[in-house]
Amino acid sequence: MALASRALDLLARLDSTTTPDPSLVREVREVVRDLARAYYTEGESPIGDTQYDQLFGALQAWEQADPDLRVADSPTHRVGGSPLEAFEKVRHPVALLSLGNAFSADDLRAWYDRVLNGLADVLDEGERPALVAELKIDGLALALTYENGVLVRAATRGNGEVGENVTRNVKTIRQVPLRLRDDPPVQIEVRGEAYMKRSTFEALNEALVAAGEKPIANPRNGAAGSLRQLDSAVTASRRLSFWAYGVGPATGGLPATQHGILDWLGTLGLPVPDNRQRFEGEDPIAGVVALCEQWAEQRDSLDYEIDGVVVKVDRLDYQRALGEVANAPRWAVAYKFPAREATTQLVDVEHNVGRTGVIKPLAHLAPVDVGGVTVSRATLHNEDYIRERDIRIGDWVVVKRAGDVIPQVVKPIVDERTGDERAHQMPTECPSCGEPLVRLEGEADTRCVSATCPAQLKRLVEHFVSRGAMDIDGMGKKSAYLLVDLGFIRSLPDVYRLAERRDELLEIVGFQEKKVERLLSGIEASKARPLSRLLFGLGIRYVGETVAQQLVSAYATLDDLAAATQDELEAVFGIGPETAQSVSEWFAHDDNRATVDELSRLGVRTERLPEEAPAEGAAVLEGKTFVITGTLPTMSRAEAKALIVGAGGKVTGSVSKKTDALLAGEAAGSKLDKANELGVEVISEAELLARLAGGPVGDEAELPAAPAESTPESQGELF
Ligand code: IVH
Repeated sequence: MALASRALDLLARLDSTTTPDPSLVREVREVVRDLARAYYTEGESPIGDTQYDQLFGALQAWEQADPDLRVADSPTHRVGGSPLEAFEKVRHPVALLSLGNAFSADDLRAWYDRVLNGLADVLDEGERPALVAELKIDGLALALTYENGVLVRAATRGNGEVGENVTRNVKTIRQVPLRLRDDPPVQIEVRGEAYMKRSTFEALNEALVAAGEKPIANPRNGAAGSLRQLDSAVTASRRLSFWAYGVGPATGGLPATQHGILDWLGTLGLPVPDNRQRFEGEDPIAGVVALCEQWAEQRDSLDYEIDGVVVKVDRLDYQRALGEVANAPRWAVAYKFPAREATTQLVDVEHNVGRTGVIKPLAHLAPVDVGGVTVSRATLHNEDYIRERDIRIGDWVVVKRAGDVIPQVVKPIVDERTGDERAHQMPTECPSCGEPLVRLEGEADTRCVSATCPAQLKRLVEHFVSRGAMDIDGMGKKSAYLLVDLGFIRSLPDVYRLAERRDELLEIVGFQEKKVERLLSGIEASKARPLSRLLFGLGIRYVGETVAQQLVSAYATLDDLAAATQDELEAVFGIGPETAQSVSEWFAHDDNRATVDELSRLGVRTERLPEEAPAEGAAVLEGKTFVITGTLPTMSRAEAKALIVGAGGKVTGSVSKKTDALLAGEAAGSKLDKANELGVEVISEAELLARLAGGPVGDEAELPAAPAESTPESQGELF
């Protein structure tokens, strides 16, 4: 039966149904899924919106009423559920790499020469490996795990090794199939990019501005911000898009080429990059260069932002042979488009005081169009930047806009000078509080170090109450500044003392009863935010959202964190020496310790939530010793080692009685014999990944001991 008539038939049956039998629920679910697919991927509406809503609503109601009727891949997950407190962290079984860059045709050719060199042993005489070029869409990388065709997990890239579990949010992206079509492998990790279409971005910004909220800087921030919403209903409303560009660990045979993989992913129902192109023949890179130049010209014609072209060696066996350096593959490169530039006149320089007291020179420009965006403000970074480039007020200057960074003044056009230009002077006193500014030896920044500087406090409060931090409903930038100006807020703890001053708040012009109620309940609600948000909100230098999460995963309370030495902090995963120093110096300050104590006394959570503790299984291999041998199906031995060590295990060179397991790939030789002889367990890459994903290991493992005939070929079957 055609989809439309099936849907209408079901609708008619709904009326007479109070408690549905499971087969009806299944049927409605299937039809809703097909209707949604027709609508979102083919742009068709087989039935009217109201009728669709009725079917959808019925399905949702049944699932809510009866847990037995719920399934992981129901189309009802597309609308989001109740908010989360924090994202769970997930370790990627195989790290998500980043890409090396090429900025010119020469860079591209040099990369291809390195590919040829790297493959010298495997290529036939005169053979030129074919390449695939795909657009480099500007969004957020995701790893989607499908088990038996059903989407079970979606994680952000994070730092490549550990990302965040954003499954609920990703399920709201209509283009991400909740169930794969055709004949999907038992397990597969699909990698791709979530992004926001330009048209969606513009509509969203219009709506935000109309609601008096701050617009989003660019589609990439739109995608990232929407995916990192704790409330998946918000993500659902943001209408993100997705395309898949590769696969991570997977069971069964995969196509042998990148273009084959993309075609195959398409047949599974995944959206794949359009405009992808394969180049072969005598000089594949020539075609790639022409294509890159063409897209640099035409990038604005697309409804999504691209920041370059990704070029990949087509054959996967060649990719494997090339391997990777640092954390980028040798078999792929990202050609980056030149930044968008324009020239205009520098009218004046304003000096703003940042949250940490840094004085930021900001250029006021005669408005100019830079790649479709009108720019009238641009950063000049700091005093040295201006002096080194001899940028003068009144100069004609080159302005550049690259990615999400604020536009910047690149250089003056000296030939255009008339003699009326004047040199820039860094102020000597704080433009906000009038205190003398300081510039420390070896530092580029000039700072206001006054503890009571209102501009700094305003920025700090603005940051503290912002969405990524304490997310105080009812307190935006305007209210925060006003409350500082009026003396209600002289320190962060004062935010939590506002409740005691309710009557005074009501006297402020524009603060009606309703507004004050909303503000105070927003403040009250913020007391229970995850600890990482509070830590981020404190505005410690170098402590962004990710660093805050990493610190909280290592320390359960702010007191524990405050007591940590710089060395201990540096030992935390993801924390470098500068951050460690900054954190320990911050807590060494009596004022800051007092702030933390005060916040805690006022009822703000200073202990982490259970979800913020390290993901279970993070150290599943604690105390286990591994030996690696042979060629593994999807990862290099170095990668496997990194995974084992990352999970608390050890890797040694030879098999002995002390070895807990031998990780064996193809063409494993004497080590495999030795392991079998000693009765040491032999595991495959797939088994390792399964254990890292949470299974037991070693003595506790219930997997049967590896049979003597456990050959690498038979091991692939687990996945
Ligand atoms: S391949 C090892 N292909 O670019 C290869 N990446 O630094 C890994 N990206 O954030 C990536 N479009 O998510 C690849 N067609 C494409 C891509 C693409 C966008 C992103 C990727 C990552 C960054 C790579």
